[in-house]
Amino acid sequence: MTITILAVETSCDETSVSIVQNGKKVCSNVVSSQMETHEKFGGVVPEIASRKHVETITLIMEEAIKQANIDAKDLSAVAVTQGPGLVGSLIVGMVAAKAFACALDLPLIGVHHIAGHIYANQLVHDLEYPLMSLVVSGGHTELVYMEAPGSFKIIGQTRDDAVGEAYDKVARALGLPYPGGPYVDKLAQESDAEIKLPRAWLEANSYDFSFSGLKSAVLSVVNQAKMKREVLNKAHVALGFQNSVIDVLVEKSLRAVRQFNAKQLLLAGGVAANKGLRQALQTRCEKEGIPLLIPPLDLCTDNAAMIGAAAFLKWEKQDFSSMDLKSEARLPL
Ligand code: KG4
Ligand code: ZN
Repeated sequence: MTITILAVETSCDETSVSIVQNGKKVCSNVVSSQMETHEKFGGVVPEIASRKHVETITLIMEEAIKQANIDAKDLSAVAVTQGPGLVGSLIVGMVAAKAFACALDLPLIGVHHIAGHIYANQLVHDLEYPLMSLVVSGGHTELVYMEAPGSFKIIGQTRDDAVGEAYDKVARALGLPYPGGPYVDKLAQESDAEIKLPRAWLEANSYDFSFSGLKSAVLSVVNQAKMKREVLNKAHVALGFQNSVIDVLVEKSLRAVRQFNAKQLLLAGGVAANKGLRQALQTRCEKEGIPLLIPPLDLCTDNAAMIGAAAFLKWEKQDFSSMDLKSEARLPL
């Protein structure tokens, strides 16, 4: 039997609708980014993001159905990101998903955004449990242990800034456009030397992270150069910052895999697009014989296909949401 799910994701500044079959086959995955709109403000403006979602959501829905070339009557369920995220943005997706589900008399499935990022891996890989997932995005930095499908245990998380947030703030300090992560990544790739920056290992056994000290160290380097009227080599700063982030992420992830006897390490979230991080994890995992799963670039950043993949698990358990389902800015995994 083929289960076809229409999924909606509007948690931040991407309006996305996708049609996914059996949690694996992506029939369409339409993503409309508002990046250009927010770029001039140096960050996502929540009010503008919600308005843009309202303007585009029905068009994106139509396009996703058209591209998948399926009949709406063949759909099995409608999935939607319940949270976490910007509440005004989430509500637009929620209302659209509910309206669609009501009109076609389909069940509704609320999905956690981070579960979506993790299950993006399922669209291209076969998952084996227990597994360890490193989630790195604009709002999250977490090590998630999964004993079985749909069971999430956060064993470590950031105590301050998320990795993507730190990337974006460092990029801004270096005068790079928003969102800065990819620009810092590119500069780091091109650099031939690094400015040594600190690493926050925290307590010996902790799987938690902290990136605000590192971010402050970068700001201090930038300010000192300004005061001394020196020309700062941005690429050297970018590589120093990136190496500090990667060292901590890789070391803690591998220690977690070993301690929990995980069969696989999954990388998930927008920062999974980072070339330096992908390379470092690949090298270390190969050396230690740990299977590493990474989604392709377009499935790392926010998209609705990942929501469709995570929703399939809930469909299998017939774990449907009521029409009273509320969008939540903060939502535990
Ligand atoms: O997962 P995502 O699309 O949205 C959230 O759920 O937050 O992640 C967006 C974050 C941004 O902070 C962006 O700068 C970062 O992912 N990002 C990167 C790269 N591509 C995107 N950070 C570092 N290197 C990249 N190549
Ligand atoms: Zn995300």
